[in-house]
Amino acid sequence: MVDSRRRQLLGLSLAAAALGAAPFAWRALRRGHHHAPNSAPTPAPGASTAGPDALFQQPLRIPGREGLMADVHLRGPLALQSRVDGFNVFPGQPTPLWHYAGQWEGHAIANPVLHVAHGQTLQVSLDNRLQEATTVHWHGLVVDEANDGSGLHPVEAGMQRAYRIRVANRAGLYWYHAHPHQRTGLQVHAGLAGLLLVEDDEELALRKRLGLQWGDRDLPLLIADKQVDTANRLVYRSGADDWIGNRVLVNWTPEPFLEVVPGLYRLRLANVCNARVLRPAFLHEEQALEFHLIGTDGGLLAQPWPMEDLFLAPAQRADVLVDFSRLPPGARVVLRSLDYVPMENEDESGAFAPDPMGDHPAAEPMGAGLDLMQFCVAGCGDDVRGNGGRGAAGASGSRRAAAIPASLSSLPAPPDTRGWPVRPFRLHMDSQGAWFINGHNFHRDGHAPAFTVKRGTREVWELRNAMTSMPHPIHVHGVQFRVVERRISPQDVRSRQVAEGGLGPQDLGCNDTVLVWPGETVRIAIDFDQPFDGNQQYMLHCHNLEHEDMGMMLTFAVTD
Ligand code: C2O
Ligand code: CU
Repeated sequence: MVDSRRRQLLGLSLAAAALGAAPFAWRALRRGHHHAPNSAPTPAPGASTAGPDALFQQPLRIPGREGLMADVHLRGPLALQSRVDGFNVFPGQPTPLWHYAGQWEGHAIANPVLHVAHGQTLQVSLDNRLQEATTVHWHGLVVDEANDGSGLHPVEAGMQRAYRIRVANRAGLYWYHAHPHQRTGLQVHAGLAGLLLVEDDEELALRKRLGLQWGDRDLPLLIADKQVDTANRLVYRSGADDWIGNRVLVNWTPEPFLEVVPGLYRLRLANVCNARVLRPAFLHEEQALEFHLIGTDGGLLAQPWPMEDLFLAPAQRADVLVDFSRLPPGARVVLRSLDYVPMENEDESGAFAPDPMGDHPAAEPMGAGLDLMQFCVAGCGDDVRGNGGRGAAGASGSRRAAAIPASLSSLPAPPDTRGWPVRPFRLHMDSQGAWFINGHNFHRDGHAPAFTVKRGTREVWELRNAMTSMPHPIHVHGVQFRVVERRISPQDVRSRQVAEGGLGPQDLGCNDTVLVWPGETVRIAIDFDQPFDGNQQYMLHCHNLEHEDMGMMLTFAVTD
């Protein structure tokens, strides 16, 4: 058994070696592949003076008309296929990605960014061209069981199904991903994930006030670490613990850079990692740049919160405003996941002692600092506006520091839950290393609902993690909930308290995934006011996808 400190040291030295070597290897590859079609675009000519550092070689992918993350403003039905194709993600050989492919306005699209309005009916069909069952799960949406896309309703290889959802959610960044039993980790790691942006009147009003254009200074940052081999393939081993990557993709671009104007940007971060909890911060010369958190999983907060970093667990989203206006032209800002104590404590039994370096060669261990991408601040003069290129050159900019509205939405404070029934959930691992929720393991104990909730009722769910454990991002299907209390939180979490009940800024929004640290007890308030009658079965699970696939999941039913 390898103790965790040694694991960490080992990991750091291996990872440092890999990081040091990587940029040179890429440059060599790129030189040899200039003829490759669709090879990684080279930085715009204007980028040379304020160019990126060696690690950050590729421009960030911006949602466009075609390809990965193309913008799709849904007005009618969209047909998607789940399939595998090669994409030029890294310099050199193409990377086979499992993805949701389609055609939109004459263009081939992959894992599109879907834009829908509150109240609209989203209609997406899936034609499964993979060799195995898959689904499209609409993470965070209020849906009925049939359209939830959980593993309870797999779409077998060669089969089709149509999802039809009347969008009842608040505006916000949601996402969709594959969710077949025991294969979610593999399929999401292989690429089956995309973003869904919901709009409503409050959101449109805020956009108007901020004056930031989507795709220009309002950008999604889909962050996922991947285990990549020397032939540019994404590798995954089913049954492994906590699949963490040796490379970081932001918008399917490895370690990218983005040229920005010295002004305000709205960045919508989504942690699409299988298992890695991120701690994003914007660093200028190693100093954290203050940003404002304006939204969480389920949309806008009532008011912005100034922060220097936040914890973003797998499946969580954070909507932030970052002001580059005080930085000089040429300044570089690194979006780094800061190091933190991962609290991955082995069980006393010693059962939970996988050697992560064996599983993930050259991966930074959980909790280690990790550079995600870089922003280069371009000069804001006429030369920049005039040359009409991509990134900052195309961005509308002004040096005026934009005002951040003091009030963002009409979201009420978390409810007073005195008198609500409390349903306790204990998260733990047994001596075999299997994960449980209330002693229930999805594979051992079956898929029948573990309990039933009456529709129209409100409940407090109390999630209690074991003392020696791991942080678990707990996700509930079919609802958005409110975090109402954190107890016995680690210092790093306690120090973020801004409201009664130990709540930090991220707890004050609507959420569908909440991180529960070892030793911690977190209470969430759920209003089961779904409009769906009959018997609706949903999942409650850990969104560490390896934990989910190992059975840290249960089914519950909402009935009339
Ligand atoms: Cu994002 Cu049950 O999943
Ligand atoms: Cu977990």
